[in-house]
Amino acid sequence: MTAQSEANHEMERYLELTPKSRRIWEEAREYLPGGDTRNSIFWSPYPIYIDRGEGCHTWDVDGVDRLDFIGNMTSLILGNAYPPVVQAVQEQASRGLVYNAPNEYQVRLAKLICERVPSVEMVRFTNSGTEATLNAIRAARALTGKAKIAKCEGGYHGTHDVVSVSVRTDPGLGGDADRPTPIPSVGGLPQEVVDHVVVIPFNNTRASREILEENAGELAAVIIEPVLGGSGMVPAEREYLTMLREFSENRGIILIFDEVISFRVSRGGAQEYYGITPDMTTFGKIIGGGFAVGAFGGRRDLMGLFDPTNGPIVGHAGTFNGNPMTMLAGSITLEHLTPDVYRRLDILAERLRQGIRDVCVELEIPVQVTGVGSLFGIHFIDRPITTWRDIAGANKDLRQQAFWGLMNEGVLFTPSLVGCVSSAMGESEVDAFIQAFRRVLERN
Ligand SMILES: Cc1ncc(COP(=O)(O)O)c(C=O)c1O
Repeated sequence: MTAQSEANHEMERYLELTPKSRRIWEEAREYLPGGDTRNSIFWSPYPIYIDRGEGCHTWDVDGVDRLDFIGNMTSLILGNAYPPVVQAVQEQASRGLVYNAPNEYQVRLAKLICERVPSVEMVRFTNSGTEATLNAIRAARALTGKAKIAKCEGGYHGTHDVVSVSVRTDPGLGGDADRPTPIPSVGGLPQEVVDHVVVIPFNNTRASREILEENAGELAAVIIEPVLGGSGMVPAEREYLTMLREFSENRGIILIFDEVISFRVSRGGAQEYYGITPDMTTFGKIIGGGFAVGAFGGRRDLMGLFDPTNGPIVGHAGTFNGNPMTMLAGSITLEHLTPDVYRRLDILAERLRQGIRDVCVELEIPVQVTGVGSLFGIHFIDRPITTWRDIAGANKDLRQQAFWGLMNEGVLFTPSLVGCVSSAMGESEVDAFIQAFRRVLERN
């Protein structure tokens, strides 16, 4: 059977398993475009609606139990409904959900982040990673007095205008791989916004340096995910990040590491893992302990721009910024992320990555398994993956078959086959994933 017809088979099974999700989705479509509020988790024909999560399990409204290998797009590093977080936020909820004045929990979380990430001398909280990258870029523009930013083809930094360029571009539209054409990734972007973005090829040091040097005079910032996250969990090569650091330092350009996902890879994030220090860092996901969050931080002079006692030079507000529920959940989460927990996560994820490779070797299916720390990505392709174009070139039929197949086999996963492990898992859950993956591919 071909991967395409097997994918259709898996989809039929998916329809059989999820009738209640389908009914809810059909009603939801009347009121919510596409039946949801978050395009990044939509998949065809309709997504499942989840009823409950606990540890590394989730149950959908049809009662299907799935092992959670995505944890709300990598945010639930300690698993679903982590008891110490749940207990603390229940107690806090009875004392008030949010106030029109600061609370001490934000100091606790700010200190935890600054202690772990030495390049972050000061930090500000937001309610999303999108707002975090928006504010980091704004600070860079305010400090440098320049307007353009450089970003990688395939890099995702949220949904505001200037980062919505060349995200998951169709390579057929992106022009020369060494000189990617900036392509709007959403409708509604004015051409002036696209004109403010310089697109560089991820992990291509020589070509990127050339493009950056040509635009250096107009660039305020270079923003990069040190591990290309949602697009494929592809780590940057050290040489590439070193080039970006040297270039931006020499040219007085602000280097922003977007660690919304990659902060997960070690106690001090990807910058600790690589030993490379950016000027600013953006955070999200795990630092909210399961609640909506974002943060941006960096050098004191940059963060001073936001200080109201100095003006401020750059405004920053948000009704729910630093609210006690999020700050408390985030603080407890970081406090529970001890060096031992990171070690365990690394070992589990490596077992998973190797297990997936072994299955594919045995079944003679070309695969590249990417990732670092607790993150992983599966790409059905026979050559090494380093760039967005490599990711986009992988076998789409097999990808679809694997996604629906794993969903049917009791694994909550993503259509792009990126995922993560959580500390709620052990070897048996990782092995269950590998066995499910084998069963799905054996059906070919
Ligand atoms: C690297 C990166 N930056 C920024 C964002 C945006 O974060 P949010 O969805 O909280 O706005 C994401 C979200 O997935 C992300 O992965």
